Amino acid sequence: MKASVNGISVDYSLEGKKGGLELVLIHGFPFSRAMWAPQIAALKKNYRVLSYDLRGLGKSRLGKAPQPLEAYVDDLLLLIEKLKLKAPILCGLSMGGYIALRAVEREPGRFRALALCDTRADADQDVVKLRRAAGIKALREKGVTVYCKAMLPGLLAKGAAAPAAKGLLKIMMASKADGMANALSAMAGRTDCSAALRDFKIPLLIMVGDQDQLTPPELARAMSMMVERANFSRVPEAGHVSNLDNPGAFNSQLLSFLAGLKA
Ligand code: MLT
Repeated sequence: MKASVNGISVDYSLEGKKGGLELVLIHGFPFSRAMWAPQIAALKKNYRVLSYDLRGLGKSRLGKAPQPLEAYVDDLLLLIEKLKLKAPILCGLSMGGYIALRAVEREPGRFRALALCDTRADADQDVVKLRRAAGIKALREKGVTVYCKAMLPGLLAKGAAAPAAKGLLKIMMASKADGMANALSAMAGRTDCSAALRDFKIPLLIMVGDQDQLTPPELARAMSMMVERANFSRVPEAGHVSNLDNPGAFNSQLLSFLAGLKA
């Protein structure tokens, strides 16, 4: 489905149990909502699940560029409003986690709970900003296919099944260079949410693939220690895109967190 939000057309799907707890799945970079297929299949029986493509990725339009991370947060808040979700749980992976964290920082009373997957709360160090600048250059000069193929090995666990890697690459290559470049620049300019995270009062789950090389388990663990009563779990045999690497373990950890909210 399409919604006109914040000056762009956003591709989304809202499915699952009417009247169930609402959950918004926010994908990472440079993916699309297609990455959440195994989670939607597991969640939709009991939950109302919204997934959408971030601006400039998948089938959502980029709109006027450049756009900072704040615009991605505006998109999320406006989409939630448009679809009349009352108190959704946010679940963001990596870049999706950056957006979710900032959304809760901006509107703490609006969300029921937060699940952060393979992500971090702090802002980019200079070395990462420079890597992103090199990524934008590579996208412009070499194109999406070369960029995505170079990125792929760092995303999944060692020995990940070939179909999983192929499926992820297909999702990545469905986006355009301009949208990817904007996302890189937006991530480089994002604010540090660490101080805000310490004050979050809503239930929090921090999940991480035990082989995540980009946001490693130690970092996720340290982030969970910053928040009183945060739930922390490692997804076994999973890399950065832990929800696709080991959907069974990822789903059972997420479902058990969600079941605890109902009680
Ligand atoms: C992601 O998966 O969204 C990215 O790896 C996040 C990042 O580059 O910081």
